[in-house]
Amino acid sequence: MMNLKTILLVFYQIVSTISSPLPLVPSQSQNFPETLHNLQDNAEGLLYLSKGIIQETILLETALTDLQNGKYKPVSTLKEAMASLASMPNASDHTAIEIATELITRGLAPTNILDILNGLTDSQINSIYNDNPRNPEEPIYPKRNPEDAPYDKTEDELRSAIHIPHNFQYGANGKRPVLLVPGTSDPTGTTYYFSYEKLLADTDFADPVWVNIPDHSLGDIQIVSEYVAYAINYISAISKTKTGVISWSQGGIDVQWALKYWPSTRDAIEDFMPISPDFHGTLFEYICLFPNRLCTPSIRQQGYESNLIHALRKDDGDSAYVPTTSVYSGVDEVVQPQSDPNASGTMNDVRRVGVTNTQVQLACPGKPAGGFYTHEAMLVNPIAYALFVDALTHDGPGNLSRIDLDTVCNQIVPPRLGLDDLLGTEAMALIYGTVDTLSYGESEPKEPPLKDYV
Ligand SMILES: *[C@@H]1O[C@H](CO)[C@@H](O)[C@H](O)[C@H]1NC(C)=O
Ligand SMILES: *[C@@H]1O[C@H](CO)[C@@H](O)[C@H](O)[C@H]1NC(C)=O
Ligand SMILES: *[C@@H]1O[C@H](CO)[C@@H](O)[C@H](O)[C@H]1NC(C)=O
Repeated sequence: MMNLKTILLVFYQIVSTISSPLPLVPSQSQNFPETLHNLQDNAEGLLYLSKGIIQETILLETALTDLQNGKYKPVSTLKEAMASLASMPNASDHTAIEIATELITRGLAPTNILDILNGLTDSQINSIYNDNPRNPEEPIYPKRNPEDAPYDKTEDELRSAIHIPHNFQYGANGKRPVLLVPGTSDPTGTTYYFSYEKLLADTDFADPVWVNIPDHSLGDIQIVSEYVAYAINYISAISKTKTGVISWSQGGIDVQWALKYWPSTRDAIEDFMPISPDFHGTLFEYICLFPNRLCTPSIRQQGYESNLIHALRKDDGDSAYVPTTSVYSGVDEVVQPQSDPNASGTMNDVRRVGVTNTQVQLACPGKPAGGFYTHEAMLVNPIAYALFVDALTHDGPGNLSRIDLDTVCNQIVPPRLGLDDLLGTEAMALIYGTVDTLSYGESEPKEPPLKDYV
């Protein structure tokens, strides 16, 4: 597992000797030296772009050092944090690396960020090598339903990616399993560490469990969806009940793809609860305008008009297969458009299974909970949490008509979360995610081909 502090240290040494030859590192390790080495290899055709990325990463590294040295003081209240988020530059003309740097200089990263990120990213909670000995009563592999798509991955690979917390109840005691599905470039255990892992574990009606994805969902979304489809079936089978599913960002596409091509999953889900989903991809495709290291297969597949998005949406794939509670922010800096009526996060409902689409600014106009929530801050948005609690405790999707808006709209984060959770979420998503994306292996010049089953 990658160690951020080591990467940054080595990275620092590398950039300070950037004109001398770069050391070769073992090919299985994904880290900054290798990233930069590859960048240099490609530099002939991509000189301008490589230079830009190297310069931006130097600025990010400097900001992290300055943060640790106390040059940037983190905000001290949730209100300050939201004001600072609102002052972030518009991502439509900044790269992910620049945004990560801005986050630090605006006091939105905790001083001990490297300790937090190292502790979390190395931790067992992100492992794809879990021992899950329980077998479903009926086999779910190679197919649970004859209509299911074939898996490329082995059952062992798919099953060991599932992380089951030691106090998981397997559907007992009224606690419904809720599978957490990650977004692009962040490990799952860390993604939800500051939010739904603790929020749900504290309830008497829900029980969090999650699926970790190799390469942190940077590879082909069709393969990522195999992990998601299998995990939905496995958790529901061993718990002998339907599961809830919470996704963030790309995870929404992964789940909807699983629902479309593995029909067995439709009987295994009680509620689908996507946060900041991009069912129509995003118009912010500038990352992939030129071949470069930030344009990984899954990022390319999330273009507004990608082949994968077209395949997902055709034949009413843009409509729900199970009750769906979609929640998003109109000022999302990653997914656009994300404002009603044309938000990428909108789910249609031709099958009449029950859908609610909620843009938080419209649910709580002018109130804290309808404020400037970024793509990742939506993980701690109080309206999203209240709607998911509502969904999990009623038939059908979460419905604003049952939410006490006078109370919830005045919260900045759900009860029991605090400033550290907001800052931790931001740091995890933007800083770790950016380093991780840069560390992905070769990026392909084209979108991965669609599978035969599509
Ligand atoms: C970001 O920039 C785009 C294009 O210039 C603009 O339409 C949008 O309103 C801006 N968003 C924010 C939050 O300022
Ligand atoms: C939403 O999409 C429809 C159909 O493409 C278009 O006619 C309409 O102008 C869009 N609305 C907004 C607010 O962008
Ligand atoms: C949400 O609640 C309102 C008011 O009770 C109801 O009219 C509407 O049908 C509900 N929406 C869904 C999707 O269940």
